[in-house]
Amino acid sequence: MLSWAIRLDGRTLWSENAVFGASVYGESLRKFSGTEYRRWDPTRSKLAAAILRTKRNKSLLLPEPGSTVLYLGAGHGTSISHLHDHLCGADNDLNGRIVAVDLAPRCLRDLTYLARSRTGLVPILGDARKHTSWGVLVPHPVNWLFQDVAQSGQVEIFVTACRRFLNLGGLGLLSLKAASERWTGEGEHVLFNKVATQLTESGFEVEERIKLTGYEDNHVLFVTRRVE
Ligand SMILES: C[S@@+](CC[C@H](N)C(=O)[O-])C[C@H]1O[C@@H](n2cnc3c(N)ncnc32)[C@H](O)[C@@H]1O
Repeated sequence: MLSWAIRLDGRTLWSENAVFGASVYGESLRKFSGTEYRRWDPTRSKLAAAILRTKRNKSLLLPEPGSTVLYLGAGHGTSISHLHDHLCGADNDLNGRIVAVDLAPRCLRDLTYLARSRTGLVPILGDARKHTSWGVLVPHPVNWLFQDVAQSGQVEIFVTACRRFLNLGGLGLLSLKAASERWTGEGEHVLFNKVATQLTESGFEVEERIKLTGYEDNHVLFVTRRVE
């Protein structure tokens, strides 16, 4: 077990289903010792891909169950649904909270539908760059922040959000899509090195750089800790 709710069976990741019988995006369901789990698809979720690829203890990538987390670039809620299984559990018994921000109305529609059966999930229609319109919904700094916005300026967006919303010592996970950055012709490796330097100079310790190739090509997940 990676956590009370996340388990690895062979090379397949599963999360204990907080909403019995419900599949969120067509993923398969199965029982382990009478408890229902949902298959967490690493080709649909960068967090799952990173958990499978990390060279460190896999559970280090997960937030504390029952805590509040901030997720920027929530999409249709694929990763978030599994995060909810882990953070909140059935009927939000653990009292967790996922503040999920996305600027696309079609994503918000799906997230709002998901939140009806998953209390603790707080969908927000907002721009990750414009905190003034939604920041009030995150009144206290969090210990876990995930960003997957796949748009240019991803690093600046991440650094600014972490400075406002992430505790010192908190974990910031940045999913970086190379193709979304301005092309300098120097190659992906150089780009990823520059991002690592930028993060370090901005007060983050880069604990790991996880290549998601094979699950999500041209993507790296930077695992950082806010130290300044
Ligand atoms: C790759 S998808 C996210 C997938 C999701 N993280 C998952 O694993 O299920 C990127 C999302 O970021 C959103 N996005 C892009 N720019 C954004 C911004 N500035 N603020 C908030 N969301 C943004 C897009 O609407 C899109 O839904």
